Amino acid sequence: MKEQLLQLLEEARKSLSSATSVQEVEEVRIAFLGKKGQLTALMKGMGSLSKEERPVIGKVANEVRTEVEQGILSRKEELKKAVLEQKLENEKIDVTRDGVFVKRGKLHPLTKVLRQLEDVFIGMGFSIAEGPEVETVFNNFDALNSPKDHPARSTSDTFYITEDLLLRTHTSPVQIRAMQSMEPPIKIISPGRCFRFDELDATHSPMFHQLEGLVIDKNITMADLKGTLDMMAKLIFGEHTKTKFRPHHFPFTEPSAEVDVSCFKCGGEGCRVCGNSGWIEILGCGMVHPRVLKNCGIDPEQYSGFAFGMGIDRMAMLKMEIDDIRLFFENDMRFINQF
Ligand code: PHE
Repeated sequence: MKEQLLQLLEEARKSLSSATSVQEVEEVRIAFLGKKGQLTALMKGMGSLSKEERPVIGKVANEVRTEVEQGILSRKEELKKAVLEQKLENEKIDVTRDGVFVKRGKLHPLTKVLRQLEDVFIGMGFSIAEGPEVETVFNNFDALNSPKDHPARSTSDTFYITEDLLLRTHTSPVQIRAMQSMEPPIKIISPGRCFRFDELDATHSPMFHQLEGLVIDKNITMADLKGTLDMMAKLIFGEHTKTKFRPHHFPFTEPSAEVDVSCFKCGGEGCRVCGNSGWIEILGCGMVHPRVLKNCGIDPEQYSGFAFGMGIDRMAMLKMEIDDIRLFFENDMRFINQF
């Protein structure tokens, strides 16, 4: 029996040293010391030994058992330590390595100017409306009182999709949509893309941006129009900016005007930015034509209003002294990073 015990001990040692995980060690423990384990079975058989043999074999059995138990514990510790070391090795951080720099993007200059304009108008109580870039000929021209033979309607000036659909040539059709879908008082701005059949050069692009404004209420007068746009000009170009309203013609406003601002660069003396005139044209505007109100189901006897439309690209070019509109659409970070 003693030989059997020593043999078991030898087997247990071998199994323990070849175990490669805590789980395997646990299996060894069950195989030798578990309820149905080999050593347990052997010890159960000690009852059949003689009185003389029992204490001798019992001593050996206890020693074997203790050694196996300790072997199990220390092998488990060893393996746990190895796992931890492997983990530490894998997760080692090299503090001398350069960090990974994330390149931050920048807002496009057009986005910046648009946000400034939106802030100004939201501050005056306007809300933002949107309209589609593919518009009906009706909304883009007819409802805006544009005569059938207006040159802007020609296929050489406008991108037609079908006879009745086009790429909007200005943001003014949003006026029509707003008046058709809302009850006065209406006070909206609407920024967005517009399209005209223009040759691409430093100041023209077939795709450009406008910001439309529309106010409809009782007792709206030209004074409201002038006050609103004068305030906008001062907030955008500086508090000393003056505005000049020159008579003009648009089919959808009467009276109509173009607005100039005193040159923010030279203060009106004349320089390169203002072409030596001291003034810079920034937008078109006017009192909404009674026929346009009627086209949208608004009674011109009860309500009046004003509208304006400005080029966002043009505003950005002026403010940031950019001399070529094409730069906006090339997505060259060397350009965008300058603003
Ligand atoms: N839609 C006009 C244009 O594109 C601008 C404008 C808008 C004029 C609103 C008057 C009123 O030139």
